[in-house]
Amino acid sequence: MTIAQNAPPAIEAGQPFLLIRNLVKSFDGVRAVDDISVTINKGEIFALLGSSGCGKSTLLRMLAGFETPTEGQITLAGKDMVNVPPYQRPINMMFQSYALFPHLSVWDNIAFGLRRDGLPEEEVSVRVTQMLALVQLQAYGKRKPHQLSGGQQQRVALARSLAKRPKLLLLDEPLGALDKKLRERTQMELVNIIEQVGVTCVMVTHDQDEAMSMATRIAVMSEGRILQVGAPGEIYETPNCRFVADFIGSVNMFNGHVVVDEPDHVIIDSPEGRHYVNHGITGTKGMEVAVAVRPEKICVQLEEPGLEQRASAAEQGFNCASGVITALAYFGNETRYHIRLDSGMELRVARTNAARHQSARLERDQRVFAWWDGADIVVLTN
Ligand SMILES: Nc1ncnc2c1ncn2[C@@H]1O[C@H](COP(=O)(O)OP(=O)(O)O)[C@@H](O)[C@H]1O
Ligand SMILES: [Mg+2]
Repeated sequence: MTIAQNAPPAIEAGQPFLLIRNLVKSFDGVRAVDDISVTINKGEIFALLGSSGCGKSTLLRMLAGFETPTEGQITLAGKDMVNVPPYQRPINMMFQSYALFPHLSVWDNIAFGLRRDGLPEEEVSVRVTQMLALVQLQAYGKRKPHQLSGGQQQRVALARSLAKRPKLLLLDEPLGALDKKLRERTQMELVNIIEQVGVTCVMVTHDQDEAMSMATRIAVMSEGRILQVGAPGEIYETPNCRFVADFIGSVNMFNGHVVVDEPDHVIIDSPEGRHYVNHGITGTKGMEVAVAVRPEKICVQLEEPGLEQRASAAEQGFNCASGVITALAYFGNETRYHIRLDSGMELRVARTNAARHQSARLERDQRVFAWWDGADIVVLTN
């Protein structure tokens, strides 16, 4: 038995795999990607999330090798990638328009790259069979792309991308061409397939639901930079700035300033009332901050909340505002309310419709109290 002397140690799932360091891409002096550093682990589905033009595709294209970085490093499994041409990178990129060859059968589409690499036909056959099984299209090998549904075409494109067993799979808006219902189903199928294969994946999307439902971690991008990296729950529950809080989901933001700054609690004054936060913050007295509260964390009722309803006695008189219901919309699973607070601010509230007959029905034009727990507040200083 011979053992390769120079083989790098195998990288296991969860270990750092793709290192991006101080990556910059300028077009005519304008930075489309502006000093991005992030580490992606083996086996992750990592989403780059941001609105159109924030630099997601440019970053992905540098990973694929279709763009040369202006500055910075890309290291994959310990190997510097920047000077490796695209076809020599153990990377495959799947585009939004799947770019299947229309005149080739599904089988030949999947086999295309393998044959081009000179793989023996027997091995090609084994791999294509595996890939068709993986995407559950065993019976469709002979069909042409136009004889498939959009979702099936998307799976063929994925099979073709995975046939060469890339170490890194790049997906640019992979489900952009599918309608909403099909997207949701395909998102789950895609995750299952990616996890089965164990390939590390970086995906680009402007759709927060897609990122939330598919990714192990999300990088929220704006103007060529990454603002926050975290698991979907972290990004949602503890956004680190106003932009991220506002970009992911719906949020109410009260602008105020810190009037009490203690290690274990903070009080913030805003035109809507006083906010009691039951933990310390990285801020100082007098600082301008935003108090962020998600719509589903807010309770609404006709009476002022009693002491027994509050998380602690310290919160009584805080984290509460009164106003008038200006709109309500029934969504089946939840009802959303708009409440015009006395300060003029429009508060958004969501209540789940868990019980079929909910006790106190709230109606338009009613005066109500909206209140929330100090533990559900996120204080944003940026
Ligand atoms: N080849 C190019 N030449 C000049 N500008 C480009 C090129 N590619 C992208 N850009 C610019 O870089 C910015 C980021 O684009 P892109 O990475 O495609 O954004 P996203 O994928 O997030 O929508 C945009 O302002 C875009 O116009
Ligand atoms: Mg793009």
